[in-house]
Amino acid sequence: MRFVTAKGDVRIPVLGMGTWCFGGRTEHDAANDDKSQISALRKGIECGFTLIDTAEYYASGYAEELIGRAIEGYDRQQLFITSKVWKSNASKERVLRACENSLKRLKTDYLDCFLYHHFNPEIPLEETIAALNLLVEQGKCRSIGVSNFSAALLRKALQYSNVPIVINQVHCSLAVREALEDLQKYCREEKVVLQAWRPVRDLEETPECRTLCRKYGISFPQLALAWLLNLPDIAVITAMKDLRHLSENMAALEIPLAPEDMEILNNYPFRRPCGVPLA
Ligand SMILES: NC(=O)c1ccc[n+]([C@@H]2O[C@H](COP(=O)([O-])OP(=O)(O)OC[C@H]3O[C@@H](n4cnc5c(N)ncnc54)[C@H](OP(=O)(O)O)[C@@H]3O)[C@@H](O)[C@H]2O)c1
Repeated sequence: MRFVTAKGDVRIPVLGMGTWCFGGRTEHDAANDDKSQISALRKGIECGFTLIDTAEYYASGYAEELIGRAIEGYDRQQLFITSKVWKSNASKERVLRACENSLKRLKTDYLDCFLYHHFNPEIPLEETIAALNLLVEQGKCRSIGVSNFSAALLRKALQYSNVPIVINQVHCSLAVREALEDLQKYCREEKVVLQAWRPVRDLEETPECRTLCRKYGISFPQLALAWLLNLPDIAVITAMKDLRHLSENMAALEIPLAPEDMEILNNYPFRRPCGVPLA
């Protein structure tokens, strides 16, 4: 696995496993196929994917329970687990409680990174960031991050924080580029890793993409991932449901796209705004 290094020498695996829709959507789905999702996570760890991304919001905490079961028996030190506190839990007391609950569900003593999922304008940002800082002091989180933050909001968060903010997780793909404007530049200056979510879902294949897939002998999802992974200092998370996804995506790490092909993809026509607007 390759890494991107954030401030404080925090090494973030460049490609990680997402868990949105694991265990259900916003609620636990009793009909969910837990076994195959646990098995996909375990196979992913065995393939070399050490970063697992989740959130208390995913299936109301059940995605974290599945991860807790999946990581049993693996060396915790080799994994990089990120979870996120939902916006309704952004007050100091609730952030601390949310972290405890995530740790219990994940059956672990610490998170590698704990992210503020979406900014809640009703709670002062300073208060949420101070609570995240306290969790680092207490050793419950090794680092902290934010998600869906614009450059302006990230600047404020950095001012309030005594510890580095190492990740800003944002919607970013061939079709969704807002984060690649000022935000990417600012993140690089501050050594905050821009981590792209939803890199392959909801993309349309164009004739130019088909030609590139043939040229490199890869699938369209691999091309979409390779484009992101060829951009400087970007990390990516994608939900991988089976061995085919896992092996395709591991291979996508090793696809250096020629500059002229990056240019073709830079001009991918089907653009749309972020699914979650940057706050
Ligand atoms: N911070 C936030 O606000 C936020 C928001 C959303 C997501 N996230 C995180 O980002 C992660 C990724 O986003 P996402 O799950 O919405 O979308 P994604 O990873 O872009 O899409 C995953 C889906 O794409 C399809 N796919 C086809 N080929 C694939 C391949 N080679 N590898 C992986 N998927 C392939 C699969 O569906 P089929 O098998 O049906 O084709 C798969 O379920 C989430 O799981 C979550 O951890 C964060």
